[in-house]
Amino acid sequence: MATQVLTSSATPVADPFPINGTDYIEFYVGNAKQASHYYRTAFGFQLAGYRGPETGVRDRASYLLVQDKIRLVLTSALGPDSPIAEHHRRHGDGVRDLALWVDNCRASFEYAMAHGAVVVTEPTVLSDPDGEVVLAAIRTYGDTIHSLVERRNYRGLFLPGFQRVTPRYQPSAVGLRYVDHCVGNVELGRMNEWVGFYERVMGFKNLVSFDDKDISTEYSALMSKVMANGNERIKFPINEPAQGKKKSQIEEYLDFYHGPGVQHVAITTDNIIATVGTLRDRGVEFLTVPGSYYDTVLDRVGTIDENLEPLRELGILIDRDDEGYLLQIFTKPVEDRPTLFYEVIQRKGARSFGKGNFKALFEAIEREQAARGNL
Ligand code: FE2
Repeated sequence: MATQVLTSSATPVADPFPINGTDYIEFYVGNAKQASHYYRTAFGFQLAGYRGPETGVRDRASYLLVQDKIRLVLTSALGPDSPIAEHHRRHGDGVRDLALWVDNCRASFEYAMAHGAVVVTEPTVLSDPDGEVVLAAIRTYGDTIHSLVERRNYRGLFLPGFQRVTPRYQPSAVGLRYVDHCVGNVELGRMNEWVGFYERVMGFKNLVSFDDKDISTEYSALMSKVMANGNERIKFPINEPAQGKKKSQIEEYLDFYHGPGVQHVAITTDNIIATVGTLRDRGVEFLTVPGSYYDTVLDRVGTIDENLEPLRELGILIDRDDEGYLLQIFTKPVEDRPTLFYEVIQRKGARSFGKGNFKALFEAIEREQAARGNL
């Protein structure tokens, strides 16, 4: 029988690892200048800051992109010997850093280290005339890290070293609001190890579990556990492949990313029909499900506020849980390697992840996998 375990959402009395939210997501990419153009033009991010040779940084160029509460940083190496270049050679464009906003960087770092974290950067004070930021970083799965960012004594744009920019070209926002969850893919048999890491090192709890009976099609399967911090502002589902007749989409990711990494970033909107309509007009490609999905979906999810027709036309999926419903859609990978993609999600009460859509969604992914010769 399929198992889905929803645990209590009550906040623990004392959160051992308080996190205010996602601070930023940093990508290492081949050409940050061009990638920033794509995120601005297609996804409606505003270019707000820059750090590079012109600001005194010799080895890299970074572009800060902002939309409502979301901050993305796109970084490229300026030479072949940089660890950024090596990251890009191995993984292609991908997420390097899921940075977390904390109140006390040193205390969080010490808690993590005392519970088995591996250090990337010791707590370091960065300062400029706008104040100071304390930054440390620890490793998570693969070559991915978590920076711990304390910014209570900082009034500047983002981080010391970033210069504010106001380019003439600023395409309008598309209504993306904040990061809902970030999913990691890890190797077969290692999901529970990373679940244990988040429990032990950062005081997270297991919010929901999905096994291969929940997430399987005729051909492939995966297992997933959703880890959340105390206030549930940070949700990290961890996926591992499961045995199926053919290659799991998680294995395809691991093959092309050359190891574990971030599979998708889910971003909320308050109006998914408007947001997805605009994204599609601007060239973002989404996975589609067969039209027959919409013939029966309302039998499954009941009454919803939206008209079904625009949802069908855009390919937006619907699911319901005990607390409400949600609307969601997934992009195709945004790189040539079939690795990172995005989810756009509108929550109308539901706190879950769209379990009722898994089958239709994974069949859509498999059609893409087959087209790539990877199923
Ligand atoms: Fe998701």
